[in-house]
Amino acid sequence: MKVKKAVIPAAGLGTRMLPATKSIPKEMLPILDKPAIQYIVEEAVNSGIEDILILTNRGKNAIEDYFDFAPELEESLLKSNKTSFYDSVRAPAGLANILFQRQKETKGLGHAVWCAKSFVGNEPFAVLLGDDIMVGDVPVTKQLIDAAEKYKAAAVGAQWVSDDAVEKYCSLKIEELEKKVFKVFDVIEKPPPEKKFSNYAILGRYVLTPDIFDILENTPPGHGGEIQLTDGLCTLCKQSDMVAVDFDAKRYDTGNLVGFMEATIEFGLKHPEVGPWLREYFK
Ligand code: UTP
Repeated sequence: MKVKKAVIPAAGLGTRMLPATKSIPKEMLPILDKPAIQYIVEEAVNSGIEDILILTNRGKNAIEDYFDFAPELEESLLKSNKTSFYDSVRAPAGLANILFQRQKETKGLGHAVWCAKSFVGNEPFAVLLGDDIMVGDVPVTKQLIDAAEKYKAAAVGAQWVSDDAVEKYCSLKIEELEKKVFKVFDVIEKPPPEKKFSNYAILGRYVLTPDIFDILENTPPGHGGEIQLTDGLCTLCKQSDMVAVDFDAKRYDTGNLVGFMEATIEFGLKHPEVGPWLREYFK
């Protein structure tokens, strides 16, 4: 199972980051000097992905512009000998073969993934949520691809989360196959406490088979009236094999204020110039 394609759903409304996200896509909010979505594209590329489809909507042209060249700006940077800025401005366009598609209606994550059907064709593919940054030695998408290849199964990224987080995300019914890899039997979206299977929840990364498209097409709107990817996964794990990988990485949900601040501070502390200044500042 070779996974060469990835889908990045970035068409959500970003209501948790309003009012900033009224006119700026939340995926373009910077974590230090790079927009959040660049970290995600880099993770995909470092996992062996060659073709990436980013799902956007009407207000998100800035994402498309960011992964394009900017001839006037580049020329001006070259003229003034700002070569490192020039390199950083050119880099995003060369990261991978990046395509864009609009999700014309914000009908949920499951619907956004379904929109990628013709891009994906008949191959397994990765899904990386556009606002979840993962930091680990091995890219999380690569950890999932390795498990998907080993078990010839779909794979979801998961971690043990608090009771509150289970109610916010989802809950997996699983059985251990080896250290940190589990077989998935069932999954429920945003369960009330009495309905949860475990405190393992899916967090932001998936390797799926194209079977998911027919499933999503027949998945009715679920929680919040949206077509939920989790509901589709619930069907997929019952009709074919699925594993959950308890990935080694720290996750930052940059789509909410606390996660965004956490990423900004922790990335800042690790930055060669900003780090020493930030430590002094906190003193
Ligand atoms: P989120 O729920 O985190 O994003 O969806 P959101 O809807 O933008 O956030 P809030 O709740 O309004 O603040 C998870 C991912 O799915 C994408 C989002 O862009 C995000 O990357 N998504 C969600 C879509 O692409 N389309 C949708 O219809 C919904």
